Amino acid sequence: MKLLDIYVYGSPLLKRKTRKVAQLPDNFPQFLERMYATMYDDDGIGLSANQVGVDLRFFIVDFSLHDKNMRKEVFINPVIIQREGEDVLEEGCLSVPEIRETVTREWKIKVRFENVQREVIEKEFEGYLARVIQHEIDHLNGVLFVERISPLKRSFIESKLEKIAEKGKTQTEPISI
Ligand code: NI
Repeated sequence: MKLLDIYVYGSPLLKRKTRKVAQLPDNFPQFLERMYATMYDDDGIGLSANQVGVDLRFFIVDFSLHDKNMRKEVFINPVIIQREGEDVLEEGCLSVPEIRETVTREWKIKVRFENVQREVIEKEFEGYLARVIQHEIDHLNGVLFVERISPLKRSFIESKLEKIAEKGKTQTEPISI
Protein backbone atom coordinates (compact mmCIF):
# COMPACT_ATOMS: atom_id res chain seq x y z
CA MET A 1 0.00 0.00 0.00
CA LYS A 2 1.30 3.42 -0.92
CA LEU A 3 1.72 5.49 2.22
CA LEU A 4 0.52 9.08 2.45
CA ASP A 5 2.85 12.04 2.90
CA ILE A 6 2.78 13.51 6.38
CA TYR A 7 2.43 17.29 6.31
CA VAL A 8 4.81 18.81 8.83
CA TYR A 9 5.22 22.00 10.86
CA GLY A 10 5.33 24.98 8.52
CA SER A 11 2.61 23.72 6.19
CA PRO A 12 -0.25 26.21 5.95
CA LEU A 13 -2.71 23.29 6.02
CA LEU A 14 -1.78 22.55 9.63
CA LYS A 15 -2.59 26.12 10.65
CA ARG A 16 -6.05 26.18 9.16
CA LYS A 17 -9.31 24.99 10.64
CA THR A 18 -10.57 21.98 8.68
CA ARG A 19 -13.94 21.81 6.90
CA LYS A 20 -16.83 19.91 8.43
CA VAL A 21 -17.43 16.53 6.76
CA ALA A 22 -20.67 16.52 4.76
CA GLN A 23 -21.04 13.43 2.58
CA LEU A 24 -18.31 10.82 2.88
CA PRO A 25 -16.56 9.98 -0.38
CA ASP A 26 -17.15 6.45 -1.77
CA ASN A 27 -13.53 5.44 -1.29
CA PHE A 28 -13.43 6.62 2.32
CA PRO A 29 -12.79 3.09 3.74
CA GLN A 30 -9.80 2.61 1.42
CA PHE A 31 -8.47 6.03 2.32
CA LEU A 32 -8.73 5.19 6.03
CA GLU A 33 -6.66 2.04 5.40
CA ARG A 34 -3.93 4.19 3.85
CA MET A 35 -4.12 6.58 6.79
CA TYR A 36 -3.76 3.72 9.28
CA ALA A 37 -0.83 2.25 7.34
CA THR A 38 0.84 5.68 7.34
CA MET A 39 0.23 6.13 11.06
CA TYR A 40 1.59 2.69 12.01
CA ASP A 41 4.64 3.21 9.80
CA ASP A 42 5.49 6.27 11.87
CA ASP A 43 4.57 4.69 15.24
CA GLY A 44 1.67 7.08 15.82
CA ILE A 45 -1.43 6.43 17.92
CA GLY A 46 -3.53 9.14 16.25
CA LEU A 47 -3.57 10.98 12.91
CA SER A 48 -5.76 13.82 11.72
CA ALA A 49 -6.92 14.34 8.13
CA ASN A 50 -5.02 17.60 7.64
CA GLN A 51 -1.79 15.87 8.69
CA VAL A 52 -2.04 13.98 5.40
CA GLY A 53 -3.19 17.03 3.46
CA VAL A 54 -6.95 16.49 3.56
CA ASP A 55 -9.03 19.52 4.50
CA LEU A 56 -11.76 17.65 6.38
CA ARG A 57 -12.76 17.42 10.03
CA PHE A 58 -11.92 13.84 11.02
CA PHE A 59 -9.12 11.88 12.67
CA ILE A 60 -8.22 8.27 13.36
CA VAL A 61 -6.81 6.62 16.49
CA ASP A 62 -5.77 3.12 17.43
CA PHE A 63 -6.14 2.89 21.20
CA SER A 64 -5.35 -0.84 21.11
CA LEU A 65 -1.71 0.30 20.96
CA HIS A 66 -2.27 1.66 24.48
CA ASP A 67 -4.81 -0.83 25.86
CA LYS A 68 -5.41 -4.15 24.12
CA ASN A 69 -9.08 -4.13 25.11
CA MET A 70 -9.62 -1.05 22.99
CA ARG A 71 -9.69 -0.69 19.23
CA LYS A 72 -9.34 1.48 16.19
CA GLU A 73 -11.78 4.34 15.96
CA VAL A 74 -12.64 7.10 13.49
CA PHE A 75 -13.90 10.45 14.82
CA ILE A 76 -15.86 12.48 12.28
CA ASN A 77 -16.82 16.10 13.08
CA PRO A 78 -15.71 15.73 16.73
CA VAL A 79 -16.57 18.33 19.37
CA ILE A 80 -15.55 18.36 23.03
CA ILE A 81 -18.71 18.95 25.04
CA GLN A 82 -17.39 18.52 28.61
CA ARG A 83 -14.01 19.09 30.20
CA GLU A 84 -12.78 18.23 33.67
CA GLY A 85 -9.54 18.31 35.63
CA GLU A 86 -6.00 18.89 34.53
CA ASP A 87 -3.09 16.71 33.51
CA VAL A 88 0.50 17.41 32.47
CA LEU A 89 2.36 14.96 30.24
CA GLU A 90 4.94 14.84 27.48
CA GLU A 91 3.67 14.76 23.89
CA GLY A 92 5.04 14.28 20.44
CA CYS A 93 3.51 14.59 16.98
CA LEU A 94 4.13 13.01 13.59
CA SER A 95 4.00 16.52 12.10
CA VAL A 96 6.68 17.81 14.49
CA PRO A 97 9.24 14.99 14.30
CA GLU A 98 11.79 14.41 17.07
CA ILE A 99 10.37 17.05 19.41
CA ARG A 100 8.73 16.16 22.72
CA GLU A 101 7.42 18.65 25.25
CA THR A 102 5.11 18.59 28.24
CA VAL A 103 1.63 19.97 27.58
CA THR A 104 -1.14 20.76 30.08
CA ARG A 105 -4.52 19.40 29.03
CA GLU A 106 -7.83 18.42 30.55
CA TRP A 107 -7.81 15.10 32.39
CA LYS A 108 -11.27 14.01 31.36
CA ILE A 109 -13.39 14.97 28.37
CA LYS A 110 -16.69 14.06 26.78
CA VAL A 111 -16.67 14.06 22.99
CA ARG A 112 -19.55 14.12 20.52
CA PHE A 113 -18.63 12.74 17.10
CA GLU A 114 -19.91 10.63 14.23
CA ASN A 115 -18.58 7.18 13.39
CA VAL A 116 -18.15 5.88 9.84
CA GLN A 117 -21.81 4.82 9.82
CA ARG A 118 -22.56 8.48 10.59
CA GLU A 119 -24.16 7.61 13.92
CA VAL A 120 -23.77 10.37 16.50
CA ILE A 121 -21.90 9.11 19.55
CA GLU A 122 -21.06 10.70 22.90
CA LYS A 123 -18.22 9.14 24.85
CA GLU A 124 -16.03 9.97 27.83
CA PHE A 125 -12.27 9.56 27.84
CA GLU A 126 -9.71 10.00 30.61
CA GLY A 127 -5.98 10.48 30.97
CA TYR A 128 -3.79 9.50 28.05
CA LEU A 129 -6.71 8.76 25.70
CA ALA A 130 -8.35 12.10 26.49
CA ARG A 131 -4.98 13.70 25.74
CA VAL A 132 -4.66 12.02 22.33
CA ILE A 133 -8.17 13.17 21.38
CA GLN A 134 -7.51 16.76 22.50
CA HIS A 135 -4.26 16.72 20.51
CA GLU A 136 -6.08 15.51 17.36
CA ILE A 137 -8.97 17.97 17.73
CA ASP A 138 -6.36 20.71 18.10
CA HIS A 139 -4.98 19.61 14.71
CA LEU A 140 -8.44 19.91 13.15
CA ASN A 141 -8.63 23.44 14.57
CA GLY A 142 -5.23 24.37 13.14
CA VAL A 143 -3.29 24.14 16.41
CA LEU A 144 -0.06 22.18 17.01
CA PHE A 145 1.12 21.09 20.45
CA VAL A 146 4.21 23.31 20.22
CA GLU A 147 1.82 26.26 20.35
CA ARG A 148 0.70 25.09 23.79
CA ILE A 149 4.10 25.29 25.47
CA SER A 150 5.67 28.26 27.23
CA PRO A 151 7.44 30.94 25.16
CA LEU A 152 10.69 30.05 26.95
CA LYS A 153 10.50 26.35 26.06
CA ARG A 154 9.42 27.32 22.60
CA SER A 155 12.53 29.47 22.19
CA PHE A 156 14.72 26.45 22.94
CA ILE A 157 13.27 24.46 20.05
CA GLU A 158 12.79 27.33 17.61
CA SER A 159 15.78 26.42 15.43
CA LYS A 160 14.64 22.78 15.19
CA LEU A 161 11.18 24.00 14.21
CA GLU A 162 12.62 26.25 11.53
CA LYS A 163 14.46 23.25 10.12
CA ILE A 164 11.24 21.20 9.98
CA ALA A 165 9.43 24.15 8.41
CA GLU A 166 11.78 24.07 5.41
CA LYS A 167 9.85 20.99 4.30
CA GLY A 168 6.50 22.10 5.72
CA LYS A 169 6.49 25.36 3.78
CA THR A 170 6.56 23.38 0.54
CA GLN A 171 3.46 21.37 1.54
CA THR A 172 0.93 23.96 0.44
CA GLU A 173 -1.50 21.90 -1.66
CA PRO A 174 -4.32 19.89 -0.12
CA ILE A 175 -5.08 16.45 -1.54
CA SER A 176 -8.54 15.09 -2.25
CA ILE A 177 -9.69 11.66 -1.12
NI1 NI B 1 -0.06 15.46 16.15
